[in-house]
Amino acid sequence: MQKNIPIYYNDLNKVYLKIWDLLNFGLLNRDSPFHLPVFICGENKSFDGRIVVLRGIDEKNKKLWFHTDIRSKKIEILKNNTQASFLFYDKDEKIQLRISGNVKINYQNNITKKSWEKTIHMSRQCYLGKSTPGSISSTPTSGLSENVDNFKYTLEESEIGYKNFCLIETFITSIEWLYLAAKGHRRAHFSLKNNLIEKKWIIP
Ligand SMILES: Cc1cc2nc3c(=O)[nH]c(=O)nc-3n(C[C@H](O)[C@H](O)[C@H](O)COP(=O)(O)O)c2cc1C
Repeated sequence: MQKNIPIYYNDLNKVYLKIWDLLNFGLLNRDSPFHLPVFICGENKSFDGRIVVLRGIDEKNKKLWFHTDIRSKKIEILKNNTQASFLFYDKDEKIQLRISGNVKINYQNNITKKSWEKTIHMSRQCYLGKSTPGSISSTPTSGLSENVDNFKYTLEESEIGYKNFCLIETFITSIEWLYLAAKGHRRAHFSLKNNLIEKKWIIP
């Protein structure tokens, strides 16, 4: 537990600023726990989470995004139910965030075009499999050809992966904050609607 009381301990406005600081730090630092949130979505009675890499944040427009394969199972789920959540936890900061919102699947548009251009040669490997991610295989396999497995492909050859690349934006509707402290936990809820942010303390 942290010994000193942080400046945001009893201040909802500072909690909100801290949330975006942590997200920004997570975005920029591969070793930060906020770099790898769990993304949760589902439909009917079935919900599931998976780790994703946080690829972008936009405090002004209140959104987060990550990259994925358009053929992945979560895409079908998100088409049927656009509501989804991110779960973050930083053990050193003792902070959990549950961020919920509505997703937009970006595919072959200006947004994906710009992100694909910035996706480095090595990272494009994920989009170069011929088979659908999640499909059954009769052998143990990465789903990639030997050359792709061994990064033996040119940047030009990796362009074919663009057809599998998509970017999932989540437009945030609420954020729930939990801070664990020996002096007493703190929990807060933020509702984000248009330009309004409703901030409330709740019982941890
Ligand atoms: C460290 C780590 C990072 C990952 N990053 C991503 C990612 O950015 N995007 C993604 O779609 N899957 C990522 N995955 C794989 C997902 O967790 C998941 O296995 C995959 O997306 C298939 O999920 P689905 O069947 O629910 O679509 C990552 C997994 C790990 C362990």
